[in-house]
Amino acid sequence: MESKPEIKLGLEGVYFTESEICKVDGINGKLYYYGYSIETLAENSNFEETCFLLLNGRLPDESELSAFRKTLASERELPAEIVSVIRASARTANAMDLLRSTFSMLSLYDKDANDNSEEANMRKSIRFMSKIASITAAIGSFRQGREYVKPDSSMGHVENFLYMLNGKKPMAEEVKILDLMFLLHAEHSSNASTFSGIVTASTLSDLHSSITSAIGTLKGPLHGGADEAALHMMHAIGSPENTEAYINDALAGKKKIMGFGHRVYKTYDPRARIIKRRLEELRGSADEEVKNLTNIALAAEKLMIDKLGASHGIWPNVDFFSGPVYTDLGIPDYLFTPMFAVSRVPGWCAHIMQYWKSNRLVRPLEYYNGEIDRKYVPIEGR
Ligand code: ACO
Repeated sequence: MESKPEIKLGLEGVYFTESEICKVDGINGKLYYYGYSIETLAENSNFEETCFLLLNGRLPDESELSAFRKTLASERELPAEIVSVIRASARTANAMDLLRSTFSMLSLYDKDANDNSEEANMRKSIRFMSKIASITAAIGSFRQGREYVKPDSSMGHVENFLYMLNGKKPMAEEVKILDLMFLLHAEHSSNASTFSGIVTASTLSDLHSSITSAIGTLKGPLHGGADEAALHMMHAIGSPENTEAYINDALAGKKKIMGFGHRVYKTYDPRARIIKRRLEELRGSADEEVKNLTNIALAAEKLMIDKLGASHGIWPNVDFFSGPVYTDLGIPDYLFTPMFAVSRVPGWCAHIMQYWKSNRLVRPLEYYNGEIDRKYVPIEGR
């Protein structure tokens, strides 16, 4: 009888590859993209420049950044058939289902779809960043009862996203905050969605299929879906005074508090710290709803840290404070996870392209604990 091997549930603690793209230091609460700390990038960089960094491993010079921005701007338009599908389904479909389905459709209109050369994959990565933003903005626009807003190539990536979503030019301050949110979500090592993209890529499938897998994985509330779930919880709490009773009840009922805990961070997620600071800064000028949500979030944060922080290593993660920030920007909750996908495309593509350089099929084992040689009984005898 074969002895039972050690099983790493959820592949916890298992290293499957090497990469210089991202370091997540879960003990000290640090995060680096290509060696730059997330605080340094948040302070000095922007989403477009950070995308270049993730795809190329270095920061661009002025002319490279300008060319990169131009390419991004030139790739924003969507095939008319995809706009029609979004128009037909945006009001009723789950936004992540619609994003995953229409993103997958992009391959039908992409001449590079089955070209797996490095050059084609770099072209597709930039194309995906633009088109996933257009799809997400179109889902929001149709769902709010408006028409498809054509992209404006004179605008930057985030400015154009907000323009296509709301049909009006955003204010500089709105662009700045959303740009920061995108930058903070751009990359995070071998998280579940990146890993699932790599699993698909490791069969030598194509980049469209790999990113479609990643989008499907991001949807779950244990991963990217936690931002929307955390906001729903804040709405259910209703006011800061109710927070303690709500959290106590939830924990007594063994429910998880969305936006807390992480497989790698056993301390405060540095992205959550940055988002919290921005939220506190904007609280002064925010409307009553956002002020209330912020106060609930801060009360929940304090309680959770007191109860589970140091004792259980359960701290706020990137998804906890995002909801009130997005609400302040007028972004509806069903777009939170799609926007996470918009931000994460550079990280997904960077990892997949790197993995392909020394590809090996991902194929782990499962330990069989069932019966063998069972007797087959014909259907009439069962
Ligand atoms: N609230 C309450 N208890 C929690 C929470 C939480 N948010 N997170 C973990 N715990 C508890 C678990 O109930 C479990 O307790 P037990 O040992 O008594 O059974 C223990 O901590 C370990 O939790 P696991 O879920 O087994 O640990 P894992 O490493 O798989 O957790 C995860 C990581 C899935 C993110 C978890 O913390 C969670 O479900 N959090 C809520 C969802 C969330 O915010 N996800 C977003 C993560 S960030 C991102 O993906 C972008």
